[in-house]
Amino acid sequence: MTDPFTYRGGALHAEDVPVADIVAAVGTPVWIYSAGAIAGEYRTYRAALAAALPGCEIGICFAMKANASLAVLGLLGRLGAGADVVSGGELAIALAAGMPPERVVFSGVAKTAAEIDAALEAGIHQFNVESEPELEAIAARATALGRRARVALRVNPDVDAHTHAKIATGRKQDKFGIDIARAPAVWRRAVALGGVEPVGLAVHIGSMLTDVAPYRAAFVALAELVRALRAEGHSVGRLDLGGGLAIAYRGEAPPAVADYAAVVAETAGDLGCALLFEPGRRLVGNAGLLATRIVYVKDGTDGPIVIVDAGMNELLRPALYDAWHEVLPLREPAAATPRLPSDVVGPVCESADTFMRGRPLPPLAPADVIAFASAGAYGAVMSSTYNGRPLAPEVLVAGARFAVVRPRQTIEDLVARERVPDWLADAAGQETG
Ligand code: LLP
Repeated sequence: MTDPFTYRGGALHAEDVPVADIVAAVGTPVWIYSAGAIAGEYRTYRAALAAALPGCEIGICFAMKANASLAVLGLLGRLGAGADVVSGGELAIALAAGMPPERVVFSGVAKTAAEIDAALEAGIHQFNVESEPELEAIAARATALGRRARVALRVNPDVDAHTHAKIATGRKQDKFGIDIARAPAVWRRAVALGGVEPVGLAVHIGSMLTDVAPYRAAFVALAELVRALRAEGHSVGRLDLGGGLAIAYRGEAPPAVADYAAVVAETAGDLGCALLFEPGRRLVGNAGLLATRIVYVKDGTDGPIVIVDAGMNELLRPALYDAWHEVLPLREPAAATPRLPSDVVGPVCESADTFMRGRPLPPLAPADVIAFASAGAYGAVMSSTYNGRPLAPEVLVAGARFAVVRPRQTIEDLVARERVPDWLADAAGQETG
């Protein structure tokens, strides 16, 4: 589908629902996702890969770190996707959303024994092993439980993805994966160990890739490794090529999935491997927004400072990565309305709680609602309750319908989790003498 968030009669809509209706029902701040947009992105992704890789077995495991809403996962699961999980918590959430375990891959650098056990018991598709000690641990747990773990070795190909340093994962100095030069030795070790069956290789070089060249470099290296392992007599049947494809945050033109798929076909299409993909952002990023109400507007040195009721505890990306999110006022501003260089900031007591500085925006007034666009990926999942702020609700829209898929957390929810030890009075006594 094209952009799910459009103005109709001057009012911002999410598919066929006025965002103002959602805000009236649920309040602000609120995350809003479009089911149609997510389904559309998934189908585009899948169709482009299928077209470029005829005859290849293709699996798409949604990187649920981008959006872990049960409703979103349930939607993607129904469309045929699996999940890439990075913790026991994500595994449990994926299973709760109805994801079949045989469509789950387990990535992440620090799988604990308890997490490995849970994945073995669930019968997941494969573990993506990030280090030699982790391989030993998976083998030990599988042996103890009388199971065999299918493992793919996640290699670090030492490729610079040309993305923000905090989300690049494929350079030598990054903590991810097994040095590609060590991979044959680690594969031999996996063959020798009981409990694990090496089935393939995995790679993920970073997130928000705006160019397909780094993919080509990584996949060429991976294909060479497949050939080298096969020359040693090993059977390499699966490649997990990770995720990372960029979306447009401010009107950029990120690579089409077809361009990416062409690189896959060119580098790995003739290996006869089953191919797995782990897209996150691309499937959900542009399918979500965060609506927030303006609390106050004060005069800054160069223009208005617009203070909204969402903070960095909701949308962390601007504070963490200097990320850009487009602003969509709920009422469409007339083209002739003058734009003022505006700062938009949240309520949290940190200067980092600044969404943008000097952005040309139409005049905004207290009680107006604006939305931050492209907030469907790494938005709600990265929220915290910092400054005593309950987690904001999530809403899923499909056509003219919407549903609250996670209600707003309450202060009572937060306080109910707290425990005060019965010796506190004594401790206070000691403190004050
Ligand atoms: N597979 C693995 C092993 C990953 O580590 C990631 C993302 C993905 C797949 C999905 O990547 P994607 O297709 O979404 O780019 N919080 C950051 C992004 C962190 C990405 C972490 N790993 C942000 O807000 O930009």
